[in-house]
Amino acid sequence: MDGRILFLPGDGIGPEVLLEARRVLEAIGEIRGHRFEVIEAPIGGRALERFGDPLPDETRALAVEVDAVLVGAVGLAVRPADGTQVDASRGLLDLRQLLGNHANIRPVSVPAALVDRSPLRPDRVRGVDLVVVRELLGGIYFGPGGIEDGVAFDIEMYTEAEIRRISVAAFEIARARRKKVTSVDKANVLESSILWRRVAEEVSRDYPDVEFSSMLVDNCAMQLIHNPRQFDVLLTNNMFGDILSDEAAVLVGSLGMLPSASVGGDIGLYEPVHGAAPDIAGQGIANPLGAILSVAMMLELTFALQEEANAVRYAVNRVLEDGHGTADLQVDGGPAPVSTARMGELVVDALGRVGLARARGSAGSVAATNGAGGNQC
Ligand code: IPM
Ligand code: MG
Repeated sequence: MDGRILFLPGDGIGPEVLLEARRVLEAIGEIRGHRFEVIEAPIGGRALERFGDPLPDETRALAVEVDAVLVGAVGLAVRPADGTQVDASRGLLDLRQLLGNHANIRPVSVPAALVDRSPLRPDRVRGVDLVVVRELLGGIYFGPGGIEDGVAFDIEMYTEAEIRRISVAAFEIARARRKKVTSVDKANVLESSILWRRVAEEVSRDYPDVEFSSMLVDNCAMQLIHNPRQFDVLLTNNMFGDILSDEAAVLVGSLGMLPSASVGGDIGLYEPVHGAAPDIAGQGIANPLGAILSVAMMLELTFALQEEANAVRYAVNRVLEDGHGTADLQVDGGPAPVSTARMGELVVDALGRVGLARARGSAGSVAATNGAGGNQC
């Protein structure tokens, strides 16, 4: 298998975590005889500072001609003209739009080794295995917005077609898992949510084998902490999905652990869920596992290399089971944290030791841990 992958390291800890992701990708390529060509280009704040654009033309051109794109993180930038800080997130939003990836898939499963590292009680988080399916190209992120005469506005708009296609994606994913979709909305208040609920219900009729219910977002935020094991697939809009996926990260113990895939267009876009974390950038302490697990999602969804994806996940689990963790995963009295680079090295070492046969069916796939496999998107 040959693959061309565009790496967009971006801001803050983005370059550090992508370096480790790259080592893991190269290692799996070597072990299994695949040739992955990696190209790098700028995005986010650094791109804005250098080229006046958080998604420069060169990056756009490359993004549409590779097989997959992996983003590190985007953050704030300093505007050279007046030294003010500007938000460079637009680069990422434009990239998602350029690639037409409307379905953002964020699996949240708690490995046994991390059950004690969550701030929540072990009995609450043990066995959690859910996927947030977030609509990525609509809603308040892309609706009309502005500031006029001291009034700021951002408008939430959804078409039936947009809701239908993300609902279909969620039900397809649920079919390969525990067959349960919970659609999250605010239908007691918002018109856009009333439509969301109606369309999600309509789509559910095409999936009689999948259990379906709707839940209000405030209740869902509470249920995610109270009884997270009840969830299999959470189907939700752009804004609620953004917030709930950060919340769900607490179940795993750290936002640094979560990978994501954005699909729906021709070219898959993969990114760790975490942000640029400028407060810890450059210190070599960031957790690269979210980026490394995003590589696993890429192997699975873009390249259909299920065994390789499972091998990466299995290697990550082995490293965690051996008790290693970056600073964000530390618990009082636990072993000393390892650096970003050491964590990458440990995963590469574990990969070398992992027999692919044993890795089959390992946890953390978009498909559930019960062994269901495949490329659902
Ligand atoms: C995420 C991030 C982005 C989002 C930001 C950086 C634009 O928070 O991917 O969750 O809100 O989608
Ligand atoms: Mg977010």
